[in-house]
Amino acid sequence: MKRVFSGVRPTGKLHLGNYQGAVLNYVRLQDEYKCVYCVVDIHALTTLSETPMLQANINDMFMDLLAAGVDPEKAILFVQSHVPEINELAMLLGMVTPLSWLLRVPTFKEKARQHPENVNYGLVGYPVLMAADILLYKADIVPVGIDQQPHLELTREIVRTFNQRFGHTFDEPQAKLTEFPLVVGLDGKDKMSKSLNNHIEISATPEETQKRVMTAVTDPARIRKNDPGHPDVCNVFKLHQQFNTAEVPTICEECKKGNIGCVECKRKLANCINESLAPLRERRIALEAKPDYIKEVMNDGAKRASVIAKSTIEEVRARMNLR
Ligand code: TRP
Repeated sequence: MKRVFSGVRPTGKLHLGNYQGAVLNYVRLQDEYKCVYCVVDIHALTTLSETPMLQANINDMFMDLLAAGVDPEKAILFVQSHVPEINELAMLLGMVTPLSWLLRVPTFKEKARQHPENVNYGLVGYPVLMAADILLYKADIVPVGIDQQPHLELTREIVRTFNQRFGHTFDEPQAKLTEFPLVVGLDGKDKMSKSLNNHIEISATPEETQKRVMTAVTDPARIRKNDPGHPDVCNVFKLHQQFNTAEVPTICEECKKGNIGCVECKRKLANCINESLAPLRERRIALEAKPDYIKEVMNDGAKRASVIAKSTIEEVRARMNLR
């Protein structure tokens, strides 16, 4: 049976971008494949200078994944640093990864631009650590958002180089996108992300959600309520296509004619998001009352992941003639 692996950074709570872009597939794939899902705390360290919130963020992300429908009976769900073999594999894969590959990765260039004061060795090595995640668990399929594709390409290059030098050890993994591989944030400009504060957390209350949606940027050419709108360039309309499929044709028509204003359109959107996330939010609240259960799932996940990790590391050591 093919194996699936994916990771999500604990930089805050899960938001609609992560959810629509990747986590929807986490849930769908777990019936068909052996799935391993990971809260990647070591990756989070590449952009943190302080860590007082780290444990709280790991817990939040872990609960969000469970609430979103990751089922620990079907999938392995764990925290990256709980299986320390990852560090060894990342170090060893670093030996077959030319620095020039890493310096041209778009996410690296972007983060180096955003935080010139914190361009650390770990940040340059981010894609090697990600390749190590995928390869430690010998994954064939990797559900991710579209922004992660360059990392997947690099993982495949690492696989080819490693296999060439040390004999066939890894298969090349494939990215798996959802039907919404890029969710644009409320600014209507960049991908939805916490660092840009243009996101909606899936566990937000209906009131918070409504408030956030109201701040969304719509069609910039539309100044007065009755001006004809352009749904094709409006991000709120794109979000309707994800959360309110039934009403999409009507909203499109009415917006173009100037019959429905942006405020009403956003109100409808907020209602649909709230409706579709209600069961998830209910599960999330229930999980918050069960910290022991969360710990248990975490420990059990790490134990099961360890078995796979140990066997891969032994194989890699032997291939590289480390003993
Ligand atoms: N880089 C991914 C992101 O930012 C997170 C990640 C870490 C990941 N390791 C992974 C995703 C392995 C897929 C597979 O979203």
